[in-house]
Formats: sequence, C-alpha cells, structure tokens
Amino acid sequence: MRLLVTGGAGFIGSNFVHLTRKNRADTEITVLDAFTYAGNHASLAGLDRVRVIEGDIADAAVVDPLVAEADVVVHFAAESHNDNSLDDPSPFVRTNLIGTFTLLEAVRRHDVRYHHISTDEVYGDLELDDEQRFTENTAYNPSSPYSSTKAGSDLLVRAWVRSFGVRATLSNCSNNYGPRQHVEKFIPRQITTILDGGRPKLYGDGLNVRDWIHVDDHNEAVWTIIDRGEVGQTYLIGADGERSNLAVVRDILRHMGRAPDDFDHVTDRSGHDRRYAIDSTRLRTELGWTPRYPDFGSGLAATIDWYRANEPWWRPQKAAAEQRYAGQQIIAS
Ligand code: NAD
Ligand code: DAU
Repeated sequence: MRLLVTGGAGFIGSNFVHLTRKNRADTEITVLDAFTYAGNHASLAGLDRVRVIEGDIADAAVVDPLVAEADVVVHFAAESHNDNSLDDPSPFVRTNLIGTFTLLEAVRRHDVRYHHISTDEVYGDLELDDEQRFTENTAYNPSSPYSSTKAGSDLLVRAWVRSFGVRATLSNCSNNYGPRQHVEKFIPRQITTILDGGRPKLYGDGLNVRDWIHVDDHNEAVWTIIDRGEVGQTYLIGADGERSNLAVVRDILRHMGRAPDDFDHVTDRSGHDRRYAIDSTRLRTELGWTPRYPDFGSGLAATIDWYRANEPWWRPQKAAAEQRYAGQQIIAS
C-alpha cells in the first residue's frame, strides 16, 4: 500500500508513521508536512523507508502529484492549538479549510481513498454533570476558531462523499497524550515546566474535563477504520479517559515527586470548553476496536519518562512556547 500522510511530522502523525513502519512492513510511506513551528524533523528520525516532502497542503501543485501516486491519504495536517487560534485565526482558516479542500479536490480527481482526522471539539462542550456523551449523531456546535475550522473541514468531506462519491471515512477523537507532543499542549507543558523547576499552570478553576486517550490507541483505531470502516461513515474514537485538568496536574506532580498543590491558577482561556466525553460504541461494536492502553496512570508515567529522556527533542521549542503564553496568563493564586 502506498500511503500519503499529511502532517506526519507533528505529534499524532509522527506516531502514526512510527506505528505503521513497525507493524506494516509492506507500506510505502510519504509524509507531506509544511514544518510549521509544530512540525519536527526529529520526530521522524531513525525511520527507514519514509519519504519526507516539505510542502503546504493548501498548494495544489504540491498536493496533486503526491495524491496521484498514493493508494490512501491519511490527513492529519492542521493548525491544532486552541490558544493560538484565539491569538490569530488566519492560519487555521487556510490550513484546516483551504488545505482540506485542496486534498479533497485531488482525491476526487484521482479517485484515491481518503481518511480524515478530526476532533471531538466539533461537538462543542458538555456540562460536568451531563449524562450524555458525544456520539456520531451529536449536532456540531464548535466554540473556538480552531474547532470551527475543523468542523468546517469535516463538512467539506461529507459533502465531497455525497456529491462526488469520494471514498472517504472520518474520525473524531478525544485528547491524545504520549511521546512527541508539542510543549505548548497541556500535559507536555506541565511536565517540561516541572523539569525546569517551575510550577504547572492551570487555566481557571481547573475543573474542565478532557477525555484522554493514548496516541497509539488513536492511531490503531485509524488503521481499523482504514481497513474495515464503511466509506462515508464517521467513527468517534475515545478510551473512557475522562479526567479534570486539576486531577491530571496532581497526577503529574505526584509522579514527579512534587507536592499536590505546587501549581498556579492562571487566567482562563476565552470560551474555554467545559467538558468533552466520547461514546465510542460504534467503533467498538461495528469494527471490533478496543484500546490497548486504558490505564491513564501508567501511560502518563511513561510519557513523563519520555520527556525526561528526550530533552534534546523538546528543549528548542520550550522558550518560544512559554514566550507565546507570557503576558496572556496572569497568576491568580
Ligand atoms: P500538531 O500541531 O502536533 O501537528 C500538525 C502537523 O501539521 C505539523 O507537523 C505541522 O507542521 C503540519 N502542518 C500544519 N500546517 C500545514 C500545512 N499547511 N501543510 C502541511 N502541513 C502542515 O497536531 P496534532 O496534535 O498531531 O494533531 C493532528 C491532527 O489530529 C489534527 O488534524 C488535529 O485536529 C487532530 N486531533 C488532535 C487531537 C489531539 O489531542 N492532539 C485530538 C483529536 C484530533
Ligand atoms: O479534544 C481534542 C483536542 O484536544 C484536539 O482537537 C486539539 O488539537 C488538542 O490541542 C486538544 O485541545 P485542548 O484545548 O483540549 O488541549 P490543550 O492541551 O490545549 O488543553 C487541555 C486542557 O488543559 C484544556 O482544558 C486547557 C487546559 N490547559 C491547557 C494548557 C496549555 C491548562 O489548564 N493549562 C495549560 O497550560
């Protein structure tokens, strides 16, 4: 199988490439990545037989010939960070909407199978005490520039399936954690701040809930959908990992030998979604997927160990990431 992986130098995409190289020796992998601040050559280091092309998914002249020679396109590339989308939404509109449109036109032209990676944030948020979780039938209600551009990209895919017969599947996954995640994101930010002797930064009251899944479980689910998913269908990916941000910070502090209250509350994120929760029944019952890393505590400990052992990977990004936060986030207690 000839695979084109967009965004393969980012967090989830690079883990997908590693997993695929390990488990599927017969796959030819091409990565298309613009190497924005979030793309990292070091995330693909040591991999055999991976062709890496530096280019923009919104550039049809780059995209078209690469799609033409692929059997399957897996589309991870995106601007992915909510805080950045509040600061400047424009690259989110270009990459997430125009980039996805450009890929869809290419897979339509060349009749190539396409899998679209998306997020549970398209559904908006839930109250803390809501008994409902998101399902494939939940109405779209995105809150941020990031999630609204992801929602728009999903709708483009659905329209290209219905109007043009594009052979596409979609998945919407909850919050991923694991190795090679950018230090701007919640869990790596706290781990690397503690490694630097600082205190974790918790937005608002810290009671917001995210539904955590190990990145390899996400990527195995993506392969399950590519192998056995029904064209035109959406599958929600989640591993029943709901936890408050406060609980995660305390877990990190405990694993790293620090006191449970050794953190700062800082200014809340504007429009901050309260809670995400995924019901992945369809994926489990129709396609037979189950998570292999359901224990968040041991997955988190392994992730802390990875950041401890891989300072050369994250160190070059740390100061710039903290610089972007400086000034926006005032310590409240
Ligand atoms: P990331 O920010 O770590 O990586 C994104 C990658 O896309 C980077 O390598 C970047 O260089 C590349 N990229 C950005 N703009 C590009 C462009 N115009 N052309 C080509 N490449 C470009 O993101 P991530 O966390 O790995 O997320 C990957 C995908 O998974 C995204 O579509 C995101 O919406 C989705 N997702 C993420 C999570 C999560 O928890 N991180 C959960 C669900 C879904
Ligand atoms: O739900 C899937 C989404 O998960 C993906 O679509 C996004 O690409 C991914 O970035 C992630 O979005 P979140 O906004 O949930 O992730 P983030 O890591 O930015 O923040 C997680 C939670 O932690 C959120 O409630 C905000 C909070 N937070 C974040 C940071 C960076 C803090 O309390 N302190 C922080 O320093």
